[in-house]
Amino acid sequence: MTAEIIGTGSALPMLAVNNRELEGIVDTTDEWIKSRTGIENRHIAVEETTTSLAVKAAEAAIRNAGVSAQELDLIIVGTVSGDLCFPSTACQIQKALSAPNAVAFDMNAACAGFLFGLAVAEAYFKASMAKTALIVGAEVLSKMMDWKDRSTCVLFGDGAGAAVVRASDAGVLSMVQGSDGERGGALTCGNRPVNNPFVSNPFRLEYAKMEGQAVYRFAVRTVPEAVRQAIRQAGIEMSEIKYFLLHQANIRIIEAVAKKLEQPMEKFPTNLQKYGNISAASVPILLDDINQSGRLQKGDKILLAGFGAGFTWGAAVLEWQR
Ligand code: COA
Repeated sequence: MTAEIIGTGSALPMLAVNNRELEGIVDTTDEWIKSRTGIENRHIAVEETTTSLAVKAAEAAIRNAGVSAQELDLIIVGTVSGDLCFPSTACQIQKALSAPNAVAFDMNAACAGFLFGLAVAEAYFKASMAKTALIVGAEVLSKMMDWKDRSTCVLFGDGAGAAVVRASDAGVLSMVQGSDGERGGALTCGNRPVNNPFVSNPFRLEYAKMEGQAVYRFAVRTVPEAVRQAIRQAGIEMSEIKYFLLHQANIRIIEAVAKKLEQPMEKFPTNLQKYGNISAASVPILLDDINQSGRLQKGDKILLAGFGAGFTWGAAVLEWQR
């Protein structure tokens, strides 16, 4: 028993903001952002919320899969930027979709959120606890940014991606996950401070902070290892992978991973130029781009990999069944 992706969807906020527009907000340049990251544009939520984007992506994935919301028995949302502390984004999606038969919960695995969601769904399938799952990665990271901090606010964007996944005999060939909390201090965002009658703690919102080079080193070392392990576990050759769909953090990370794996960049589709880094939404949006543009055929082998805050990372080899 494994998991098969049977439909994908995505949603982006209306407002697109290019690098030049950021030049008027922080001390940066289009040239700096493009040369260090590859990012040219990102979408920023104005009217949209994490939940509204997640619902839109979920509806598109359900349509693409040709299933009804009533068939869903599991909804998992990977997010670090839910609108509410509770109820979860997943429960809000359940309500919006009218999916009463689903168990719904959020997971925080940052940019590996979609991969962790896929692993949990597969485990539910193996345990006969579910048959049809909706996995969503949804983020409004613009609200986590300090818009005076040029080292972070230029990198991230908002959006959501989703996949409907079904218990099947074919689909996911292997799955690798890892976490390293020891080094997690390199990429953080504070939540509410303790604030009660027994402490005096002036409420102060905290924003995302990052040691960029430490995160870069982590990604470039860990991702190729995870990819190799996933391919080994799948029992296939690296050359059999048609596309490596990596978390869209930075073109330099993707180029370094491609080089270490000795694979051509043509096998690494990217959309970070248009969307920036959307954490958990990044991988499912890229998968949806590739799927909707008709670039996947039955029998194609693809690799998905996510990595980020925690640190967390995950990789999966899939054989496309549609
Ligand atoms: N515009 C212009 N200058 C900027 C800038 C910006 N947006 N952000 C930082 N700088 C400046 C720094 O202040 C620094 O200036 P200084 O030399 O005068 O101190 C200089 O650029 C170099 O900064 P540094 O942080 O050393 O740059 P870098 O080459 O490491 O590139 C990153 C920065 C963030 C692009 C790079 O470290 C990276 O890609 N890291 C991984 C980040 C990531 O992907 N995170 C998400 C993972 S899920």
